[in-house]
Amino acid sequence: MLSKFESQFLKQKCDKHYHGYHEYYNYVLGNTTIKSLLEIGVAWGDSLKAWKAIWPDATIEALDLHRQYDLNLEEQFKIYNIDSTNKESSKLVSSTYDMVVDDGNHNWKIQLETFNLYFDKAKKFYVIEDVMGIRSLDLLLKYLPKDVRDDTHIFESRGHKRVFNVDGYSEVDSYRIMFIDKR
Ligand SMILES: C[S@@+](CC[C@H](N)C(=O)[O-])C[C@H]1O[C@@H](n2cnc3c(N)ncnc32)[C@H](O)[C@@H]1O
Repeated sequence: MLSKFESQFLKQKCDKHYHGYHEYYNYVLGNTTIKSLLEIGVAWGDSLKAWKAIWPDATIEALDLHRQYDLNLEEQFKIYNIDSTNKESSKLVSSTYDMVVDDGNHNWKIQLETFNLYFDKAKKFYVIEDVMGIRSLDLLLKYLPKDVRDDTHIFESRGHKRVFNVDGYSEVDSYRIMFIDKR
């Protein structure tokens, strides 16, 4: 039987399924009920629809630099059109959420900047998706506070390896997903 994460990521054709992230969400979150969630990075809204089907009673908010999604989505979800590294953005959104998912810009420096603004907003889980290869992962871990590193679970994408060009350094590797468990 498919987990609720796998069936909804599949149904919404969400690329979290391509990466195999459903397995990791299922493993780390288990039956935890999420009552409020913020996702950074909307694109076409696939994951927002999946989260809503998984936790129908949850308050779900999101932010994205662009409006690529069908505007009807804004009737169901509060979506802020702003850069996650803009200091004002973290003041605009609600005060805290059970889970914050960063699926916005995948460059480790932006992920770190976003973490610094949004980590305090997560009550149970702070998730960083699509860390681009082992070098970016090492750099990100290097700059995270030690107690945060100790509560971090890291998993490798099941998708194909690819070439990452980050900071002028090239490597062939996989995306990673990081779950910081704050419970
Ligand atoms: C991978 S897509 C999100 C996919 C979506 N979460 C899903 O699973 O269906 C990344 C999105 O992040 C947005 N984005 C990139 N950098 C951003 C930033 N600094 N602040 C806010 N949004 C950003 C892009 O515009 C894009 O729509």
